[in-house]
Amino acid sequence: MNGLKLLGAGYALPTRVLTNDDMAGYVETSDEWITTRTGIRQRYFCAEGETTTTLAIEAARRAMADAGMAKEDIGCVIVATSSGEYAMPSTACLVHKALELPEGIPVFDLGAACAGFLYALDTARAMLLAHGGKAALVIGAEQMSSLLDMADRNTCVLFGDAAGAAVFAPADAEYAYVCGTRGDMAIEVGGPRRSLPMTMEGQNVFRFAVSTIPATVQALLEAGGKTLEDVDWVICHQANRRIIDASVRHLGVPADKFYKNLDRYANTSAASIPLALAEMKESGKLVSGQRVILVGFGGGLTWAGIMMTI
Ligand code: UT7
Repeated sequence: MNGLKLLGAGYALPTRVLTNDDMAGYVETSDEWITTRTGIRQRYFCAEGETTTTLAIEAARRAMADAGMAKEDIGCVIVATSSGEYAMPSTACLVHKALELPEGIPVFDLGAACAGFLYALDTARAMLLAHGGKAALVIGAEQMSSLLDMADRNTCVLFGDAAGAAVFAPADAEYAYVCGTRGDMAIEVGGPRRSLPMTMEGQNVFRFAVSTIPATVQALLEAGGKTLEDVDWVICHQANRRIIDASVRHLGVPADKFYKNLDRYANTSAASIPLALAEMKESGKLVSGQRVILVGFGGGLTWAGIMMTI
């Protein structure tokens, strides 16, 4: 019982949609620049009353309903986020309260930026293996708009708000994990909410990403004794279409093996991978028995990859 089975998934989006033309109302930019440099066409930002908490709760409810899971069966809750509404209680505690989850379980937030969901998933797996429990509720939720300086065109056009959640059970299934950190490369920095907006050395993060994705994919394939032909989907953190396209070229695989939805949501940090999983499950693209590679990378710098059968 070393792997995980995906029982259910759900996602939540705020109500406010901003097109690239809308962003040109904040900074000197254009739909042409954003589309050609990133592939992003629109993003969702929280409106009044919408936060990381409300998105996480909604995504979690949908994932629980999709899994058909009784709340008593949840053995831990982890929310990957860099934009929690409060320092305390954690976003995970607010989900725990809203969903009336059982008392005797660990519930906490985890911060590893855009790699956060995969760190959280591997942590949840370790906790289920160590302590038992029927299933884990793992969430990625972000209100990136709360970290942005809307006068900084280097960052504000790139990010969006969203949450994705998934319920996983321990399973006798294959599972490979790699991760890493370059704490010396703090080139994507965000401060306390609403007091110090995030900044980013875009080109350096770009270079890091286009070497990290192929290396992570190769490491997972080696660890699992597989080739890319054995893999149904590669689901990367959705930061920039050019980063994914460069990885496709480097690995020499068909582009349609890499899922892309960043045109609609922009970079939702820790939410991007569970959002993709939930959206793909909902549309029937992701079905039980498929082998997937998940790759997250971002601020820290951090990165992580998981190869598993769904
Ligand atoms: O979540 C993971 C972490 N983040 C990332 O993965 C982001 C990784 N980096 C990137 O995606 C890209 O580096 C960016 C999209 C951030 C930037 O694209 P780029 O092709 O590397 O552009 P650049 O930074 O080289 O900038 C080119 C030009 C500059 O003007 P000059 O100096 O050539 O006159 C920028 O000032 O584009 C300018 N620019 C913009 N112009 C219009 C920068 N941002 C904008 C903008 N609109 N929003």
